[in-house]
Amino acid sequence: MIASATLAQQLQLVYLLEKEDLAETGKQFLAGLRQTPKTISPRYFYDAVGSDLFEKICDLPEYYPTRTEASILKQFAPEIAAITGNAELIELGSGSSTKTRFLLDAYQTFGQLDYVPVDVSASIVELAAASLLKEYQNLTVTGLIGTYEQAIAHLPDPHDLPRMLIFLGSTLGNFSPSECDQFFAHTRRSLRMGDYFLLGVDRHKSTEILEAAYNDRQGITAAFNLNMLTHLNQRYGGNFDVKNFAHRAIYNTEKCQIEMYLDCKKSQSVHFAALDTTIEFAAGESILTEISRKFHVDQLQTYLVQQGLKTVKMWGDRQDYFGLVLTQAI
Ligand code: AVJ
Repeated sequence: MIASATLAQQLQLVYLLEKEDLAETGKQFLAGLRQTPKTISPRYFYDAVGSDLFEKICDLPEYYPTRTEASILKQFAPEIAAITGNAELIELGSGSSTKTRFLLDAYQTFGQLDYVPVDVSASIVELAAASLLKEYQNLTVTGLIGTYEQAIAHLPDPHDLPRMLIFLGSTLGNFSPSECDQFFAHTRRSLRMGDYFLLGVDRHKSTEILEAAYNDRQGITAAFNLNMLTHLNQRYGGNFDVKNFAHRAIYNTEKCQIEMYLDCKKSQSVHFAALDTTIEFAAGESILTEISRKFHVDQLQTYLVQQGLKTVKMWGDRQDYFGLVLTQAI
């Protein structure tokens, strides 16, 4: 009894996602299909099957980002904690919070620790929170289930401790430059001067290594990309013939970004019953499903200063594949 009462005090889950307005999200989805090239938001990757496939991607031999970032965190989390001192940790896109454990290990030496995971997937936050509370004492978890925007509007009132936003996995790379501007304009407002923002970013490197990471030999990334169509069929009553599409990922060296496409092999008209709309797909046409930008850390630091974040310190791996940048609000 006492144990469960204690647990309840240490856990709070806040559900911010409004019930999806299919007409509204459908309108945005269709707007993307009317662009050239046709574009679908990467958020449609992450249904239950897609989230599972992403976890598998993270373990692939070719997909270096996850394990590289984990090793950097493992090695330098104590140094990060020593620089910031005790802090309230807010992680955007926390997922399973696996890599975050290195930070929690380091910060728990301060005693009481507040962790605020933010994710759109309720089940993953619920699971992560439950296992974290079992593993860590003196931890409170306030899980915010919603978009970054919703979560930032609902952050707990700031206390005396500095706040540290955490955004790992190079998810920043999914944002176009203008989406990046919006993201930082928004997040920066939740920080007071002297607060911290820790960013994990994938770095520019050889095309060979990058393209291998998005074209794995087992075809998991291809399955992940194609699953988007199955998901859209379910979501909007569509009839994409998935076997008419092929996965393609290339590194655009000019824009320094991986671009993932679904190439249409045979023309087809796809009807979305829930949206009462039919869209034509021509043979040879490509749908852009994701960009994953790769950063030059010096340029990134210059950019971040313009967003009101100065770099305190940066850590990396021996091969300079991945960077972990600790910034501070100015
Ligand atoms: C989750 C956006 C960081 O861009 O590397 C992995 C997603 N796509 N393989 C990335 C992804 C294909 C991943 N991010």
